[in-house]
Amino acid sequence: MELSPLLSDKSILAVFIAVLLLAQASFAGSVRYTPDWESLDSRPLPAWYDQDKIGIFLHWGVFSVPSFVNAWFWYWWKGPQPHLDIVTYMKQNYRPDFTYADFAKEFTTEFFDPYRWAEIFNASGARYVVQVTKHHEGFTSWPSKYSWNWNAGDVGPNRDLVEELSTAIRKKTNLRYGVYHSLFEWFNPLFLKDKANNFTTQDFVLSKTLPELYELVNKYKPDVVWSDGSGNTIDTYWNSKQFIAWLYNDSPVKDTVVTNDRWGTNCGCKHGGFLTCGDRYNPKKKQNRKWENAMTIDRKAWTFRRNAQLSDFLTVEELLAEIIQTVSCGGNILINVGPTKEGTIAPIFEERLRQMGSWLRVNGEAIYGTSPWTHQNDTLHPNVWYTTRKETPGTVYALVLKWPSNLQLPLGAPTPTDSTSVTLLGYNEDIPWEGLLKAPGIIILPPALSVQEIPCLWAWVFKITNIKME
Ligand SMILES: *[C@@H]1O[C@H](CO)[C@@H](O)[C@H](O)[C@H]1NC(C)=O
Ligand SMILES: *[C@@H]1O[C@H](CO)[C@@H](O)[C@H](O)[C@H]1NC(C)=O
Ligand SMILES: *[C@@H]1O[C@H](CO)[C@@H](O)[C@H](O)[C@H]1NC(C)=O
Repeated sequence: MELSPLLSDKSILAVFIAVLLLAQASFAGSVRYTPDWESLDSRPLPAWYDQDKIGIFLHWGVFSVPSFVNAWFWYWWKGPQPHLDIVTYMKQNYRPDFTYADFAKEFTTEFFDPYRWAEIFNASGARYVVQVTKHHEGFTSWPSKYSWNWNAGDVGPNRDLVEELSTAIRKKTNLRYGVYHSLFEWFNPLFLKDKANNFTTQDFVLSKTLPELYELVNKYKPDVVWSDGSGNTIDTYWNSKQFIAWLYNDSPVKDTVVTNDRWGTNCGCKHGGFLTCGDRYNPKKKQNRKWENAMTIDRKAWTFRRNAQLSDFLTVEELLAEIIQTVSCGGNILINVGPTKEGTIAPIFEERLRQMGSWLRVNGEAIYGTSPWTHQNDTLHPNVWYTTRKETPGTVYALVLKWPSNLQLPLGAPTPTDSTSVTLLGYNEDIPWEGLLKAPGIIILPPALSVQEIPCLWAWVFKITNIKME
């Protein structure tokens, strides 16, 4: 039988198209995600995120002008349940017709030097930065087309704070840059209207939230999109699944971007990329999915507070304990700093960050690129936490929050073998050890170290090799 020339042309064309499609699919490695949680939750996190472990969070916006109480200042002044301290502060210090919007022109940022910030963040040992680009007050730190007269280009800084910081970080360091973005805005009339309609209308989402999110991602190409502020409503109102599908399939950062779980009241601790659950989430237990502990150096607030006291800030020991517990349990930690309205990072924050960096330069081997071990904390010793590295099975890092006072550190979790050796990161000589007498376990016998010999001043890491594999 002879094919008509037309038919054979068509079938050649069909085969050609099929080959093209196949080639395209395999070229992109290409799973395409569909806008449902089953598909979106199945995306493996880009590897950098689990490896990098430590990020810096920056809450900087109009709330940095009053810099009093916290970033919820406006809501607690004018919202349905005003807080007396804020109401009184405003009565005593401002004229009666002063509005929150009047604070914006005082967001002066005259000392903001993004290259100086980048140097501090790099010195801290953190590997990524997440900048608040719009909090619940609605003020955008970039000159958004969708935030008329309520953005950093039009009022206050008269600068693009997102462009400046992302550029400095990328030019000066190897850190990744990410954005925090609030879905809802407390007092936006369109949001309030959709809310009054029981979220059966989506005027706010379609004209504000989504255009703004696309603008942010297309323009600044962040590697983290840290969503927040579900405004007591669910993902379907926010079109979250559609947005994330675009982020994973077609956005300019589709291969590197990570996102969190705050995409609607039904998503927290359940759907999205990494899980943040609540603020300052530190479960002290290994979790099944990748998670992040977003916490603050000032234990009382996310924003700079002019009336903070020294005791409000985590000590370096407390900060390191938080990092160590988090990483042992498979989490990342996002450490918040509140810059001032003038654009400076107060010395107390800078000091904590530089201390953290000095510790990580000695002990980073036990943090970056590690995985949780069989045990997270020791069975005998509450101040000892563990990490391990996939590429060196049989080696564990014991991270010790208190130097063993009698120079004996009995540990119940690792069982030594004849070829076990123990070292102290940052110290050159082998550390003696003994087996535990009646149980599996090890007693590490560190020598008395002088101030010159001790590798760091807070939290020490014993590297134990060739332990018995479980
Ligand atoms: C960033 O930090 C690393 C590690 O401490 C250091 O070697 C490098 O010089 C720093 N880079 C800048 C630009 O400060
Ligand atoms: C919203 O829901 C409430 C309670 O279900 C109902 O009383 C109210 O009439 C609804 N409003 C609108 C605008 O649909
Ligand atoms: C540490 O490990 C023990 C089990 O050995 C466990 O009971 C305890 O809850 C763990 N967590 C903390 C924070 O100590």
